[in-house]
Amino acid sequence: MAIGIGLVGTGFMGKAHALAWRNAGAVMGGLPPVRLAVLCDTPLERARDMAAQFGFERASDDWRAVVADPAVDVVSITTPNALHRPIAEAALAAGKHVWCEKPLGLTFADTQAMAQAAGDRITLAGYNYLRNPAFAQARRLLAEGRIGRLFHLRGWVDEDYQADESLPWTWRSRASEAGLGALGDIGVHLVSLVTTLAGPVESVVAETAAAYATRPLPEGGEAAVENEDIASALVRFRAGFHGVLTVSRAAWGRKSRLGFELHGSRGMIVYDQERMNELQLYDSGDRRGEQGFRTILAGPDHPPYAAFCPAPGHQLGFNDLKTIEAAGLLAGLAGGPCPSPDFAQALEIERVVYAIARSAEAGGERVEVAEVRA
Ligand SMILES: NC(=O)c1ccc[n+]([C@@H]2O[C@H](COP(=O)([O-])OP(=O)(O)OC[C@H]3O[C@@H](n4cnc5c(N)ncnc54)[C@H](O)[C@@H]3O)[C@@H](O)[C@H]2O)c1
Repeated sequence: MAIGIGLVGTGFMGKAHALAWRNAGAVMGGLPPVRLAVLCDTPLERARDMAAQFGFERASDDWRAVVADPAVDVVSITTPNALHRPIAEAALAAGKHVWCEKPLGLTFADTQAMAQAAGDRITLAGYNYLRNPAFAQARRLLAEGRIGRLFHLRGWVDEDYQADESLPWTWRSRASEAGLGALGDIGVHLVSLVTTLAGPVESVVAETAAAYATRPLPEGGEAAVENEDIASALVRFRAGFHGVLTVSRAAWGRKSRLGFELHGSRGMIVYDQERMNELQLYDSGDRRGEQGFRTILAGPDHPPYAAFCPAPGHQLGFNDLKTIEAAGLLAGLAGGPCPSPDFAQALEIERVVYAIARSAEAGGERVEVAEVRA
């Protein structure tokens, strides 16, 4: 029987989920069929338009009806952060599986509650960059020892959507509506990548800042920016080495500059999401006179690239990563391995960014990640 999908939210991520649900089976094959049962947004007119565009059977402006709908098996949550917890909790209580965008909660307490509510349902948090075949290749090279023993890691995530000083004050800068700033919005993606590569973060020492202390209000005057635009953290991994992570939503010119350098005893791997179809590898074992970074272009040797395209270097795109994510969820629903990160794993990703925020609040004190509580 087909798996019924209820999608709540039809903005940037809503469209990405809708396309992923439509495409996963066609691209990957061997997956259970899906039925695009009901799409929810407000106002109802928008929901109707988007349901027609994305091919959903019905439209609704009431997410409570969607999570209770007997035709829905999985709820995709792509609303602003403040709605994640109520929708997820209601969906899980109704016995539905849930795919929710990151960050899960508006606060760490929200995320903890969502992880607890998951029970035996299949849950998935929207960490699409983990699905990039080039990232998977970086992971494979590290595991195979191609750069030797990892002893240092530098990671960064830079965007410029809050770089302009004249941008008006919006909910993004208000703690009660956005929660964390850049850390919650994009820092979590960086943590998802580096902890997948290097294992858990044990402790952090951090500073955060607002690029501009206030922003102009549309009605005149200024309002204080209540969360961070920038964060810098020294992180100690449980594996016994340290690294440096930097996060900024005010980095002019950077659009999706999520990346890392892995420094090992034999070589280095460099990854940059703005060039998501390639990796740089330096191997000190190369012959003298021929040493240098080589560019590895993503291709059919890097699963599941071949499911999209047989030709190397022809390149996947952002929405393809969501298709891979949806395929993992469908495989899990069909009895395969559970997709990750589930809500419990997403809680651990968020625990690291809250540790960074708390270290900064405490004037740069070292914070043990395991001790972060709601
Ligand atoms: N994984 C990623 O790479 C990534 C990228 C961008 C955003 N996100 C996350 O996705 C989520 C949504 O972000 P976005 O950029 O898509 O936002 P968006 O503003 O583009 O879309 C949000 C949608 O939710 C709808 N909505 C709001 N209230 C609603 C309600 N009560 N009922 C039904 N629908 C409602 C809005 O009308 C809109 O269509 C956020 O949590 C964000 O952090 C993830």
